[in-house]
Amino acid sequence: MKNNTYTLATRGLHWLVGLTMLSLLIVGFVMATFEIWALYDLHKSFGVLAILLILPRVIYRLVKGFPSTNEAHKVWEQKVSHIIHWVLLIGTILMPVTGMLYSGFGGYGLDVFGISLISENIVDDDIVSYNESVFVIAKTAHWVIGYCLGAAIFLHIAGALKHHFIDKDDTLNRMTGKA
Ligand code: HEM
Ligand code: HEM
Repeated sequence: MKNNTYTLATRGLHWLVGLTMLSLLIVGFVMATFEIWALYDLHKSFGVLAILLILPRVIYRLVKGFPSTNEAHKVWEQKVSHIIHWVLLIGTILMPVTGMLYSGFGGYGLDVFGISLISENIVDDDIVSYNESVFVIAKTAHWVIGYCLGAAIFLHIAGALKHHFIDKDDTLNRMTGKA
């Protein structure tokens, strides 16, 4: 039998993680672009805590797979949306991982609302990385994956709205529990 429904738990996790990721992406871009240092600790703390929601969601999808694609969609739409769902899921796990590697190995320290997980590495009043290669790779990845994820989320939301308002099918309603 085909599994094409979203349970209350998977819908709840979708909206919770989705909203968290959107907020962290926006805060990340804004704080990095305008160098708003006051936002860094908040971004990092919420980013680390987000893993508590992200991990169960990703593990559940890896174990159970996705519900079958929506047959109201054209075949190419089903293929594209399935690929984008994978990109979103993988991006969701890679962002906090690269962020933590970036801050931790960069010597900037890692703490959650003041509770230190990895301490800063300060030598002669300068922040010194614990491992320069891991730091540079993770920093670049956090940036590049952030942009790719932003683009995928844009397509994802545009697709959901197009199906709801133009095609008037049940795509969005399946995810809000109305279908
Ligand atoms: C306003 C924002 C969003 C809307 C309206 C929305 C809407 C939807 C809808 C309607 C589906 C079901 C698609 C289908 O059955 O073919 C879906 C699935 C999905 N969405 Fe979103 N979404 C939003 C934000 C996000 C964000 C920010 C992420 C991740 C970063 C995300 C990740 C996913 C994933 C991975 C799926 C596949 C199904 C699942 O794993 O539960 N969504 N979304
Ligand atoms: C969980 C999801 C996360 C998302 C979606 C996210 C997203 C972003 C984005 C979009 C940027 C801007 C990239 C740029 O223009 O350089 C950024 C920057 C940053 N993120 Fe994250 N992030 C997340 C988690 C984390 C975590 C867990 C940490 C560290 C513990 C972290 C540390 C940083 C730092 C230090 C910057 C500043 C980069 C700079 O100044 O160039 N992030 N983040």
